[in-house]
Amino acid sequence: MGKLHNLISIHDLDRKTIDLILKTAEEMESVAVDRSNELGNRIMATLFFEPSTRTRLSFESAMIRLGGRVLGFADVISSSAGGKGETLADTIRTVERYADIIVIRHPLDGSARVAAEFSSVPIINAGSGSEEHPTQALLDLYSIKKIKGTIDGLSISLCGDLRYGRTVHSLGMALSYYDVNVKLAAPPTLRMKPAIIEEMKKSGIQVTEVDSVEDAISDVDVVYMTRIQKERFPDVNEYDEVRGKFRITEDDVKLLREDAIVLHPLPRVDELSPEIDNTPHAKYFDQVYSGVVTRMAILKMILG
Ligand code: CP
Repeated sequence: MGKLHNLISIHDLDRKTIDLILKTAEEMESVAVDRSNELGNRIMATLFFEPSTRTRLSFESAMIRLGGRVLGFADVISSSAGGKGETLADTIRTVERYADIIVIRHPLDGSARVAAEFSSVPIINAGSGSEEHPTQALLDLYSIKKIKGTIDGLSISLCGDLRYGRTVHSLGMALSYYDVNVKLAAPPTLRMKPAIIEEMKKSGIQVTEVDSVEDAISDVDVVYMTRIQKERFPDVNEYDEVRGKFRITEDDVKLLREDAIVLHPLPRVDELSPEIDNTPHAKYFDQVYSGVVTRMAILKMILG
């Protein structure tokens, strides 16, 4: 694989490139503290057509720690896309003239790929509909490796909304590059897309599907919980049927292996009881910080 340009999908990466991103992220741990001016003359634009706290702010923090500058509209309503109906293509053809790289989050599947078709500067997908969130998967892998020392050899449970959750789609695909056992745990209506299960199985990893929280969290090294994505349901009644049904409570903690870790891309609603925060299993706020160093690595590899 040549130099990284766009990052739209996990499929844009091979195992070697992912390993290089994780290694570069490790190197970024000290740079994140000391700061550098490596991207001192570079500008990153953030185009967030959907709400975000972590992805947008960690990208901004990453760019600033590398000496770069950031710009972006405050919210979609105050942009010409939201306020005046400008097309995504025209927005991209405008913003590429203001910035050296564009980080985009958009509610439509395929949006980041469309943006890349119209852009002369690199595009990073910060979440495209319910399709993918590749930089989240990379920071998830980084978190697992940092905490457990390895990814290969682990058993990992992906839990919650596997149908509409874009983080688990990207993470499932990324895990296909590793020697892992994966449990897919979701309510029956929110199971993982068959194409992704097929991809994981084809890669040789063992995949098991379960539909109870107890089965999901027992006997695994990593529990990766996700929020039920209310905003993606076409029918609110369908959401009401699953709301609150897939939760890890304080009582469930006893089912975890002693050294099991619990991750979550956040935000959470009610699927992880706050009492879990005070246990040694809870690593989701450490995972948040992995977003800074991993995104520093991605920016450095694309722009450096
Ligand atoms: N994990 C994640 O994408 O969080 P935000 O929606 O806050 O960016």
